[in-house]
Amino acid sequence: MSDSPSGSPRLTRRPEWTALEDHRKDALPQPDLRELFTADPGRAERYVVHVGDLRIDYSKHLITDETLALLQELATATDVFGLRDAMFRGEKINVTENRAVLHTALRAPRDAVIEVDGENVVPGVHAVLDKMAAFADRVRSGEWTGHTGRRIRNVVNIGIGGSDLGPAMAYEALRPFTARELTFRFVSNVDGADLHEATRDLDPAETLFIVASKTFTTIETITNATSARSWLLDGLGGDEKAVAKHFVALSTNAGKVADFGIDVDNMFEFWDWVGGRYSYDSAIGLSLMIAIGPDRFREMLDGFRIVDEHFRNAPAEANAPLLMGLLGIWYGNFHDAQSHAVLPYSHYLSKFTAYLQQLDMESNGKSVDRDGRPVEWQTGPVVWGTPGTNGQHAYYQLIHQGTKLIPADLIGFARPVAELGDELKAQHDLLMANLFAQGQALAFGKTAEEVRAEGVPEEQVPHRTFRGNHPTTTILATELTPSVLGQLVALYEHKVFVQGAVWNIDSFDQWGVELGKVLAKRVEPALTEGADVPGLDPSTAALVAAYRNLREV
Ligand code: F6P
Repeated sequence: MSDSPSGSPRLTRRPEWTALEDHRKDALPQPDLRELFTADPGRAERYVVHVGDLRIDYSKHLITDETLALLQELATATDVFGLRDAMFRGEKINVTENRAVLHTALRAPRDAVIEVDGENVVPGVHAVLDKMAAFADRVRSGEWTGHTGRRIRNVVNIGIGGSDLGPAMAYEALRPFTARELTFRFVSNVDGADLHEATRDLDPAETLFIVASKTFTTIETITNATSARSWLLDGLGGDEKAVAKHFVALSTNAGKVADFGIDVDNMFEFWDWVGGRYSYDSAIGLSLMIAIGPDRFREMLDGFRIVDEHFRNAPAEANAPLLMGLLGIWYGNFHDAQSHAVLPYSHYLSKFTAYLQQLDMESNGKSVDRDGRPVEWQTGPVVWGTPGTNGQHAYYQLIHQGTKLIPADLIGFARPVAELGDELKAQHDLLMANLFAQGQALAFGKTAEEVRAEGVPEEQVPHRTFRGNHPTTTILATELTPSVLGQLVALYEHKVFVQGAVWNIDSFDQWGVELGKVLAKRVEPALTEGADVPGLDPSTAALVAAYRNLREV
């Protein structure tokens, strides 16, 4: 495959890439973490980077100073920081959609100037934030009432993908900061069961629906919103005027919002330079803002901004998103790791990994480069995980003793949330002891000699031996506050950016999800009406026929 149109060599032919391949081969079978720490105990302190309230320890990685230097040379050669600066400047780095990528403008200070097509977008960002804050305050205080005059007690966000995962994740993460007298639900699945379960015990007179959709054309969201409207009108005697008091929209598409019947005065706008998976700090976060209040929401934006500024200004060797991105490349491209586990030791982060799945996999699940040519290197990993202690009793066995290399992030907090009682607070040390113990066991394992020394019968020794050498990053913060959540999300946003930049892919489009959407629309009449769908393949046609038969039984 020839080099890129710009004349620069393709990634795997760059000398910086082959230097990493050689470095990896030289170190075969693998640098050993026990040996690395014995030779250099100082790495425990040296391989730590601080950003905002986050302490990021990457000492338990299969790296040396030389590995880091070579990875940084790769980042320089692929001009990661050049693309970063272009992103922050508002250049149209989403090449396939010809769009700027400016989620960082969503948390820019009021006096910042960031131009897209010659227009400063920052005043618009703050105008929407102010409108959201005024609305959130009215709902929280009870001043905004429903059609019958009753105050709103339930907020149901209807959206999918980036219009669901972000607010749903952040609501869970920040529950201790939420208005506990209000109920929040998040409906995404076009399976009617989702809306049914979310609304079955709610009173329509006290329920506000937030329809969140960047495009306002997403079939799942529009279908659910239409059913929610029927549910509301059925419950309130059918007066169409009720919609104005019980439906608001979050969108870039005012025309479609009006077509749906939502007053555009009740629409909170955002812009095409905000990707869906990068949008929960835009108007898409309205449900979260109602839950935690405008001040906490702004604290969260401040947290995002701390990491934005760090990513923009910190030197390469102390740049946390750069380091995390490069470490992922080290494993994915030079150790054949296929996946990456994110394991939070916090119940409140139960949806964090699901959120990161879209952020990472929709961004970097690409197989052509920015010039449209097939990549000859691995791109984004499979991201997976759940809160750590539960995972320990489910899939950690495979990480410890399976045959796959699975780099993992362990995320924990020094303090439990303030509102727990003393006895529950006391459980926090045990929770964190688990995090530290897992990091230790994964890195250093247990040798056959150590197992034998415990008097274990010889035939059991192989089963009880832990190879160790499983790399982890440990991210520690004092407490899970709105600011810290913003910091964590921005850290991963920029990590994903770094990897996409090195791989020379467009991390900001998502054409891969389009085909399934188009085919679902085409297949639906075959299910509903038994219509002949031209071009339906024999396997799918047989499945549709079986479905229709079973439905009739
Ligand atoms: O899943 C594809 C996708 O386009 C995501 O990128 C997006 O977050 C989601 O659908 C929802 O889109 P919208 O906000 O336009 O309804």
